[in-house]
Amino acid sequence: MSSVEIIVASLRGAHVAALVSLFGTLVFLTLVARAAMAEAPVDAPRLHWRLLRLARVSTAFALVIGTAWLVVETVVIAGTDDIATTLRALPVVAWQTQFGQWLLLRGLLLLVVLGLLRPRRAGLAVAPMLGAPMLRAPMPGAPMLGAVLLAGIALVLQPLLGHAGAIGGGVGATLIASEVMHLLAAGAWLGSLLPLFITIGTLPHNFAATACRSFTPIGLSAVLVLAGTAVLQVTDLMGDMPGLFGTGYGHVALVKVGLFGVLLALAAVNRLALTDRLAGAAPDAARRHMRTSIAIETVLGAVVVITAGFLATHTPGTHEEPVWPFPWRPSLSVFAEPDLRGEVIGALVAVGVAVIMTVAGMIWRRMRWPALVVAAIIAARAIPHLDLLLVEAFPTSFFTSPTEFAATAIAHGAKLFAANCVACHGAEGHGDGPTAKSLPIHPADLTAQHLWAHSDGEMFWYVSHGFDAPEGGVAMPGFAGTLSSEARWDLIDYLHAHNAGDSMRSTGTWSHPVPVPQFDATCADGHAIDLDDLRGRVLRIIAVSGDAATLSVPLAARGITTILLARKHMAATDPAACVTSEPETWTAFAILSGVPDDALVGEQVLVDQNHWLRAHWRPGEPGDWNDPQAFASVVADLAAHPIAADTGSGHAHQH
Ligand code: HEC
Repeated sequence: MSSVEIIVASLRGAHVAALVSLFGTLVFLTLVARAAMAEAPVDAPRLHWRLLRLARVSTAFALVIGTAWLVVETVVIAGTDDIATTLRALPVVAWQTQFGQWLLLRGLLLLVVLGLLRPRRAGLAVAPMLGAPMLRAPMPGAPMLGAVLLAGIALVLQPLLGHAGAIGGGVGATLIASEVMHLLAAGAWLGSLLPLFITIGTLPHNFAATACRSFTPIGLSAVLVLAGTAVLQVTDLMGDMPGLFGTGYGHVALVKVGLFGVLLALAAVNRLALTDRLAGAAPDAARRHMRTSIAIETVLGAVVVITAGFLATHTPGTHEEPVWPFPWRPSLSVFAEPDLRGEVIGALVAVGVAVIMTVAGMIWRRMRWPALVVAAIIAARAIPHLDLLLVEAFPTSFFTSPTEFAATAIAHGAKLFAANCVACHGAEGHGDGPTAKSLPIHPADLTAQHLWAHSDGEMFWYVSHGFDAPEGGVAMPGFAGTLSSEARWDLIDYLHAHNAGDSMRSTGTWSHPVPVPQFDATCADGHAIDLDDLRGRVLRIIAVSGDAATLSVPLAARGITTILLARKHMAATDPAACVTSEPETWTAFAILSGVPDDALVGEQVLVDQNHWLRAHWRPGEPGDWNDPQAFASVVADLAAHPIAADTGSGHAHQH
């Protein structure tokens, strides 16, 4: 983060903190303090006056800091570096950017609130400092309710000034809705802390205890809303766990969650232990403890709000490669292994039983200790088996490949493999290269199904950092120093394509879902397409020897795009077909089919709507695809058995 970004984030946070304080104070005045003020008519005017002053000071802070924020954003947006040009750019940013317009609207609302909060308007009939007692607690009048409403609106404008506003569309709308709820709840809870502090210092102790009790329903519902909406925002913006643990954005969010936990604990102590003591025998000590605890809460609350300001400035985790910080990650892959599955399920059931026994022990007092002891023994025996739910992980485990499984990447990877890897892994990747025998451990068979158990990010780690042999020494060198990261990603695409081709050659099918490699093609009307333009369509790819006229295939078929794969340049002449003639695309399809480049002519491949490679036919094989009826039945079979779009190697094209 640059220093300007830090200043922007701090100003944004401080500005929101002032708005939170304003909204919370007004909520406190209208909803929480009334019962206590009615009970304590002598002290009520003084309390009322103090709270009103707090609200006014908060408004003034919000206005001043908001202005400073506008100035600094102007410097950032307009790139100005002296006062005169900044001042000239100020009205432009204020009037002509979305940010400026929303901020101006907020400023206007705050000025109106300031007017409504003048003591006479806000329902304070008697100047309280003169000590004239009031006979009843002031009921909130129209100006007061208006002030609460406007302060709430000013607060919830916040998302329009940050990411959620910029995202737009469906995601934008739910995010904005949840952020609005989140802000109102934060305002009602955190903003009420200072008023609570003042109330406990102003009112006699038993009336202060009344105020604490009236605060409970508001505080509790605010906490529930905060937690619920936070979960929504985290999953939407962060791309789940890797984003949370692996990105700067996620770390700030974790700090926020941690502080929230501490705040919650302090609030629980205040309400469950100290409030009753405030109304009880030793009120003075309770009052002191409570004020200290609320003061700490207030500071932490301010830190939370300012942290949120940093979150809004930082790039959300979905745009960043997450660097995984732990040496393992959770994985459900064990459920695919029949001999281990039972062990894990047994352990999970045992942990469930232990939890039920613990809960039962809490409820049924007489059985408490025996139940807890048995539960502890069961848990202690079961939990170690759960490490089967963890697999080894690396900092790059959740990296995604930037190559989009392009044909050019696969072809490039093939060359790199021949130059760097065959000595150990062998020309066909079976782990039988010339130097394999002399190695401390046997090189892996890269054509095994096991290869697909690793995420792209894990493969990237292996190729970058290699392996040490268990007895010491290097089993496989890392290539981070000799090959660029693009080259290493290309190698991984080749390993996947080659593995698929090996399966096709030995079994006649692709036993693991493989996406179609990306390539460009030209269609008859001369326009160039890439495969993303054809998403949702079934593709029939035919490797031709160079002359489309010799094809005996009827090319036009409903819902299907035919693509002729040529080895040499060829013009797209048939209006029913597109042509691709990059040599890399030819090579990539030869690798995926498990044949040498020269043997690909005549081969046909069928790709489903989600762009998985599905079926494959070569001249001489049964079920001649050049016969329209036979071909139609292959297409129908494919449509009847779709592959879920998220199965596979994580090669989703959209990334
Ligand atoms: C010096 C010999 C050597 C060279 C060169 C070498 N490897 Fe390896 N490779 C190994 C050995 C040995 C293993 C097995 C390590 C183990 O099982 O702990 C291995 C394992 C792997 C694995 C893990 C496979 C799995 O399923 O667990 C991958 C992926 C891999 N190598 C890719 C490559 C690539 C790509 C290259 C070329 C850039 C390469 N290797 C070059 C020796 C080598």
